[in-house]
Amino acid sequence: MTAGLNSETILIRGSRIIDPARNVDAVGDVLIRGGSIASAGGLVPPDAVPSGSLVMEAEGLVTSPGFIDIHCHLREPGFEYKETIATGAAAAARGGFTTICCMPNTEPAIDNAAVVEYIRHRAAAEAVVRVLPIGCVSKSRHGKELADMEELAAAGVVAFSDDGDPVYDDNLMRLALTYSRDLGLPISNHCQEPSLSRHGVMAEGWTATRLGLPGIPAAAEETMIARDISLAELSGGKLHVAHLSTAGSVALIRGAKERGIPVTAEVCPHHLTINDRWALGDHGNGDVSGAASYDTSTKVYPPLRQDRDVEALIEGLVSGVIDCVATDHAPHDVASKEVTYQDAAFGISVLETALGSLMGLVHAGRFTLPTLIERLTAAPARVLGADYLPLATLGPGTSADVVVFDPSRQWTVDTSQFLSKGKNTPLEGTVLTGAVVCTIAGGQVAYQDPTGAVSRSNSNPQDR
Ligand code: DOR
Repeated sequence: MTAGLNSETILIRGSRIIDPARNVDAVGDVLIRGGSIASAGGLVPPDAVPSGSLVMEAEGLVTSPGFIDIHCHLREPGFEYKETIATGAAAAARGGFTTICCMPNTEPAIDNAAVVEYIRHRAAAEAVVRVLPIGCVSKSRHGKELADMEELAAAGVVAFSDDGDPVYDDNLMRLALTYSRDLGLPISNHCQEPSLSRHGVMAEGWTATRLGLPGIPAAAEETMIARDISLAELSGGKLHVAHLSTAGSVALIRGAKERGIPVTAEVCPHHLTINDRWALGDHGNGDVSGAASYDTSTKVYPPLRQDRDVEALIEGLVSGVIDCVATDHAPHDVASKEVTYQDAAFGISVLETALGSLMGLVHAGRFTLPTLIERLTAAPARVLGADYLPLATLGPGTSADVVVFDPSRQWTVDTSQFLSKGKNTPLEGTVLTGAVVCTIAGGQVAYQDPTGAVSRSNSNPQDR
């Protein structure tokens, strides 16, 4: 991690502390010392904060464990013009994330220990947050032959995935799940039956018809989820379903969990907050009676879907059928998006807008703030496994991975301000409510907003 504004001691004073892993929701102080949480809750006594400490007056703000994103694309090695580990990590910090797991669809793909080592080395040198690599399921992500999953696990990957593509071969998926059981690491599958999705570029439905674009039926996702549930039952492997997008997928996961099958699932902020009409441009409010128009920044896999799917996904996240939120941050260069809808790359740049767009659902009363924070912290840590739970709490002695945010601050999405190289978001110009003020990763200030809320005390802060 690179050094920013740093101090041995950091005091965050008077915020609402929400730490779902410890069932804490109370106003108090958070004290960080030597990179670890010294205390979270209650009042910090004056003599605990020496002169020169960093102090943040945080009344009215929320402090929680830093968010954990188990699904993002950092593009390095191979596509550094879209994103690097350094820029992706900086964007993560701006979004309140302190741990991010990067997908292996790089060039070369993360299918051997040397590439894992390269990513770990780059992250240690340049990333302001913790970066955990995900290894491939198949060699070069070609879906033909298993990658050496044992070698990858020994090198430190936290999960396996061919994301960007499904593991379409049934027996390969069975084998991968069997290894996942023995290695104790999840397989995150991008569920998409290629013979059904074919050349589709957006959700099948009215909007696709209106734009004359080939659609992707919900069944493309659901048939593969059904297969994977069956293979998870057969193998006892740890199945994690990436980026759920349909109501039918939620029902499948619910049924599997009721039958005690080891399956977890994630949902992305965009699938919870916007629908396929946004592809028409003008944030879905366009005058569709006029000339056809479209917004390629809405092109994402799985596609934005219809309102009933959005509703089911929200309900699934609230009820816990869907375990957690993951961003699927997929940065692209301008040239990959300023083309026809059919030629555009799939993907949305999400890390910097995730909190603001999800807070919209909290403000609309769709779920509570503690529930949202749980789905961004403890829940994704559980998907990774028990070793990662200490990254998702403010418990004393744990690594000081912390986000402080203003739940009420309004801001307008302006991609020219993004720290990510990926400016590809349909939310450009949208007003969001909820903004990160400061992110601390491993006790170091990884991001602070332009208000400069964190300052160095010249005297004992309790004397002022
Ligand atoms: O929209 C997407 N973009 N979905 C994926 O699964 C892959 C990702 C990418 O790598 O760009």
